[in-house]
Formats: sequence, structure tokens, C-alpha cells
Amino acid sequence: MCNLVSKYNVSGPRYTSYPTVPYWNVNTFSLERWKTTLVQSFNESNSTEGISLYIHLPFCESLCTFCGCNKRITKRHEVETPYIDTLLKEWNLYCNLFDSKLKIKELHLGGGTPTFFAPINLKRLINGIKEKAILANDYEFSFEGHPNNTTKEHLQTLYDLGFKRVSFGVQDYNETVQKAIHRIQPFENVKRVTDMARKIGFTSIGHDIIFGLPFQTEEHVKETISKTKSLMPDRIAFYSYAHVPWLKGNGQRGFKDCDLPSADSKRKQYENGKELLAEVGYHEIGMDHFAIKSDSLYKSMISGKLHRNFMGYTASKTQAMIGLGVSAISDSWYGFAQNAKSIEDYYQLISEGLIPVYRGHILNEEDLIIRKHILNLMCQFKTSWEKDNLYFNELPDVLIKLKEMELDDLLEINSTNIIVNEKGKPFVRNICMAFDLLLQRKQPKNQLFSMTV
Ligand SMILES: C[S@@+](CC[C@H](N)C(=O)[O-])C[C@H]1O[C@@H](n2cnc3c(N)ncnc32)[C@H](O)[C@@H]1O
Ligand code: SF4
Repeated sequence: MCNLVSKYNVSGPRYTSYPTVPYWNVNTFSLERWKTTLVQSFNESNSTEGISLYIHLPFCESLCTFCGCNKRITKRHEVETPYIDTLLKEWNLYCNLFDSKLKIKELHLGGGTPTFFAPINLKRLINGIKEKAILANDYEFSFEGHPNNTTKEHLQTLYDLGFKRVSFGVQDYNETVQKAIHRIQPFENVKRVTDMARKIGFTSIGHDIIFGLPFQTEEHVKETISKTKSLMPDRIAFYSYAHVPWLKGNGQRGFKDCDLPSADSKRKQYENGKELLAEVGYHEIGMDHFAIKSDSLYKSMISGKLHRNFMGYTASKTQAMIGLGVSAISDSWYGFAQNAKSIEDYYQLISEGLIPVYRGHILNEEDLIIRKHILNLMCQFKTSWEKDNLYFNELPDVLIKLKEMELDDLLEINSTNIIVNEKGKPFVRNICMAFDLLLQRKQPKNQLFSMTV
């Protein structure tokens, strides 16, 4: 395994979309085309499966120096009301596009820090959303909570509004690591919110853990997983630290590159971490997610219903996802659109009565075929070109590229399908890269993506 990790640890996309954002053809995108694809998707799928809604809440009180998310650091809580007002205006703009109500299957509050907002403001937001929509019978609402500022009132209010799933950012429990990433968060804080959420009735509690952080060692990862085990969350996201300082300005410059663990140590953190998670009863779901058997993510993996979108892995698939809020990305299946990245630009576009997207991509026939293969690989570790017109002209070249991975026993190539072996699962991003025709045609000049491990 050791040699394989060094061989296949290259810079590569995480495939929360295909085409990946740097390969969007922004020149052929327009707001009108975007709306047309969304209406098409609505007509095809709203009355059956419904839509997913992602709401980006960007504010955080304090900057964690490893963070790759779009956030705005402030302690001024006056920002809450105008932000919620603007989100509800944006929601109205979307609702007005359709001649019947949107049906919400999934709703996720992400950030930034959703629990930066006072419970009463979150309640106004969710009630404002619900007023203009209907809920699917088996709707799922979830949110990301910061263990340092999630209160009992947050948990109770959101639970009463229909939220049954919460994930908490843990990262690592070691003090030296916490100091380096500017995030002091003792175990007691995580225990307090986890216990409270469980007592209130949340049925799925997740913890985010990261390996490869500055000053982090294999021992620290071991210790973090052992503390995590004592709280037994239903899901664990075990992320590789994505070091992309060139995208994040000064945000990731709170420590020096030489403070990061070596490639060898990071690999060991990953391998030992995975082993420990398996030992304590977690099953690997796709890439970097783990869950116990009773969790919906595990069940959907077993039933072949696992899906992946900009939120990461989800237990159910909807064809359309609307992203509200600054920098949020929407997906109509036939197109992607991203909202303005600065709060000021976002407010400005909404004040002009415009859906606040600033760039996007409309998928062509080829994109749709490749998208399906990449989704199959990321969610089911196999793909086939036997049905659904999933054959494409470049497929023989893709299979030649995969030959070496077959020799390394990472996958099996058959006449009409490929199947990823157990040994190949950690390298699924590399396998997807062989299918990524846009990446093959135009290799990036500079490093655009984080490392695959
Ligand atoms: C929006 S935050 C979670 C909610 C809240 N803001 C918090 O920090 O607790 C989402 C998660 O993304 C992960 N994350 C952020 N930046 C990352 C990076 N550079 N590499 C890997 N994971 C990252 C962290 O695990 C974090 O918990
Ligand atoms: S990790 Fe969470 S709290 Fe920290 S800066 Fe990023 S979004 Fe904000």
C-alpha cells in the first residue's frame, strides 16, 4: 500500500461536480440558459423526488487558519438580520420561476458557521423557506454546528423545525495542533454538544476530523479517534487537509509549510486512522466518509442510492439542487451556477432583483455522459457503458490509461464495465481523473487541486 500511495498521490479534483469548477465553460453560460435548465429539471423531477436546498451561512467569529471554506470573520452580530432578509429574497426569486411549489427533499445549512446565527434568526429563515414550498414525506434537514458556540437552544429550535441530523467540526484534539490552526476547542465542548443533540433526539450526529494538519502526528490522530470513539457519532468525515493557500489568500498562512507533516507521515495518519475507524465499528462510505450501520449514509450505500453533490455524499439523490447565499453553487443536472463570492456583490445583485449567479457551466452531451461515470465511480465504485448510452468515443483511450491501475490490482476492466477493487478504493479520485476528458485535454499549468491523499 505504501508504494501505491506515493505513486498515486497527485494533485486532483474531489469530484463534487463534473465538470470541475476550474473547467467550467463560463463563456457559454448565461443567467437565461441557467434558468432554462432549472425549469427543465423542475418539470422532470420536482413532483417525484423533489429538490435539495443548500444554504450558505458565511459568518464565523474567529478564523481557523486551515479553513478552505468561503467565510467572513466578524463578531458583529448585526450582520445576521440583513443576511437572512437577503436569503429569503433570493429564495423568492427562485420560487417565482416555477408555476407550482418546489418540493424540498433535503435542506442543509452549511458555512461558515450556521450556529453563528441566533436561534430566532434561524427559525425565521427556515419558516420563510417552508412558507413557499412543500416538504417531501421523507424530507431530511441537516446543519453544521461549531462545538464552541452551539447552544441547547440552537439544537432544540432546529430540531423542532425538522432537523434530525447535525455535524460538528472537531478536526483534532491536540493542543499544539489546535493552537497552530487557531481553534482552541477542548474535548468537553464536543462532548457537551454531542450529548445534548442526542438527548434532544437528533438521529444522526457527525464529527469532522482532519489529518495532515500542521504539527499533527500519527499519535494525535490516534488520540483524536480514540476520544471520538467514546462519543460514538453516527458518521465521521475523515478529511485529508486540503492545503490550497493559493486559493485562500492569507487564510491558510497562519503556519509555515514546514510545519506540515511529511508526505510519509500524512500517509501513515491516513492509513492508521482508517484502520482504527474500522476497528471501532465504522464502515467506509465512498471517499473520506465513515458511518455506523444504522446511519442512513451506510444504508444508502448498501442499497446503491448513495449520491454525491457539492455538499459531499448524501443519502438520497435529487436531480436539482438550489444553493442560496454568498458563493453557493446550484446544480440543475444540466447546468451549474455559482453565486457571487463577496457578500457585497451578492447583496447588490439581489437588490437589483437578479438571481445572484456570477458564473456557471451548461453541460453538453459529452459532459453528461462523463458526469454519470464519475458519479457511479465515486458512489458505487463501479461504472458500466452497457446501457443508458454511456459509451463515448474516447473510452478505449481511457481504458488504456487505466491499464496500469489494473496491473496494480486497483480495479478490474471487463468488456462493458470497470469495478474498483477494495485496494483501489482510496484511489477512486485517480480513477475518475482518467475519465475526466476536460482534464486530459488541458492539464492545468499551476496546481489547481489538493493532493488526492
Ligand atoms: C464549515 S466547517 C464546519 C462548521 C463550523 N464552521 C466548524 O468549523 O465547526 C466544514 C468542515 O470543513 C472541513 N474543512 C475546512 N477546511 C478544510 C481544509 N482546508 N481541508 C480539509 N477539510 C477542511 C472541516 O473539517 C470543517 O469542519
Ligand atoms: S473551520 Fe468553520 S469556524 Fe473555522 S473558519 Fe472555517 S468555517 Fe469558520
